[in-house]
Amino acid sequence: MSDKAILEFQGKKYEFPVIKGTEDEVAIDIKTLRGTANIITIDPGYKNTGSCESAITFLDGEKGVLRYRGYSIEELAEKADFLEVAYLLIFGELPDKAKLKKFHNDIKAESHVDEEMKKILDGFPKSAHPMGVLSSLTSALIAFNPSTVDVSSENDMYHAIVRLLAKFPVLVAWALRKKKGLPLDYGDDTLGYVENIHKMMFKRPNQAYKTNKVVIDALDQLLILHADHEQNCSTSTVRIVGSSHAGLFASISAGISALWGPLHGGANQAVLEMLEAIEADGGDTKKYMAKAKDKSDPFRLMGFGHRVYKNFDPRAKIIKKAADEVLADLGIDDPILAIAKGLEKEALEDEYFVKRKLYPNVDFYSGIIYRALGIPTEMFTVMFALGRLPGWIAQWREMRLRGEPIGRPRQIYIGEKARPFVELDIR
Ligand code: ACO
Repeated sequence: MSDKAILEFQGKKYEFPVIKGTEDEVAIDIKTLRGTANIITIDPGYKNTGSCESAITFLDGEKGVLRYRGYSIEELAEKADFLEVAYLLIFGELPDKAKLKKFHNDIKAESHVDEEMKKILDGFPKSAHPMGVLSSLTSALIAFNPSTVDVSSENDMYHAIVRLLAKFPVLVAWALRKKKGLPLDYGDDTLGYVENIHKMMFKRPNQAYKTNKVVIDALDQLLILHADHEQNCSTSTVRIVGSSHAGLFASISAGISALWGPLHGGANQAVLEMLEAIEADGGDTKKYMAKAKDKSDPFRLMGFGHRVYKNFDPRAKIIKKAADEVLADLGIDDPILAIAKGLEKEALEDEYFVKRKLYPNVDFYSGIIYRALGIPTEMFTVMFALGRLPGWIAQWREMRLRGEPIGRPRQIYIGEKARPFVELDIR
């Protein structure tokens, strides 16, 4: 294969190098395009544009492959726990027992959140969406941890990362407890990372905390499945905010806002709300299938389709199995699940969906499990953020260590040409 791409434009030829990734993905390197030819490329939604070279996550949307640092998502979901996966994503290798223990101990040592932060939490109405609360509290953490991170110091970097992995779950738990009107809980250092998060979220003030292995394992798996997904909307946001050398916490707070949208992480909440609406409307899935296909109707089947997976979402396969197991283990017979299964079956056989390669994505099933685990619908996207945190951190760290330039796209201006100002009196 030629290692050059040639562009012919207005009678002139321009050559560009071609770069190849370890999995043979090919890209034309157009860094010199504007400088030499005075033109730019345009690609709204970046469907054909690579923003970086990255060694963290590989995915092949056609084949339904997802790997973190070379390890398949199927193996990681089965054999690793969330903290091991977080370490793997951020630092590049699976930790040995000693490294994992130190990592967990360092996190535990930072797992307090300044009491003053509670005043900020108190300022929010109970009705506030927990994603807004989480994003604001993550931003507010900066004020209580003001030291800037010297990214050339591995030690500085490590401590900033550990601080965030320690404090973020506390904020997640606070967001839930605020909603439920429960007093804040400080967790228990003797518990595993995910089990402790579960305790901080659900411990009742007048009852001893009761763990449940099925629930903890399902939660662990869900967090692993969400831990990274290369250059999606929120991760690109984290990288672009961080590229201005804004700090780690500020970059993550921006990523949370990006994740909130219903076309991205907010889809898991939207899926459940859609299923509930269909149930309330008599459970007629065919009616909603027709709405989804009607181009004059803005309704979309939430939880179907994916920007990169055009075959199946490998996470959806794992999670579908987990959903079945959790519901069976917990003895839950949920009418919402019957509607979900009906929609899934109809969509998989429907020409509109088949032709457009619209398969159930991870969010279609995650909401069902979260609901079975007793997590309120508005918290679903928060749980996604909790899982995605190590991926955001890993991508931010990689971007800073590679010394990437500030993210600053170009545009094609389509507005008014230069015109004289018109005085207010004569407009
Ligand atoms: N329901 C009905 N039609 C759909 C759906 C859907 N869920 N998704 C895509 N389509 C149709 C579009 O109308 C379009 O049809 P057309 O070719 O006739 O115009 C075609 O399929 C292609 O859709 P695009 O929007 O161009 O695909 P894109 O890659 O831009 O969007 C997205 C992907 C945003 C995920 C989209 O499929 C969608 O909105 N899905 C529902 C929301 C959702 O579940 N989001 C979660 C994504 S996973 C995640 O973030 C973790």
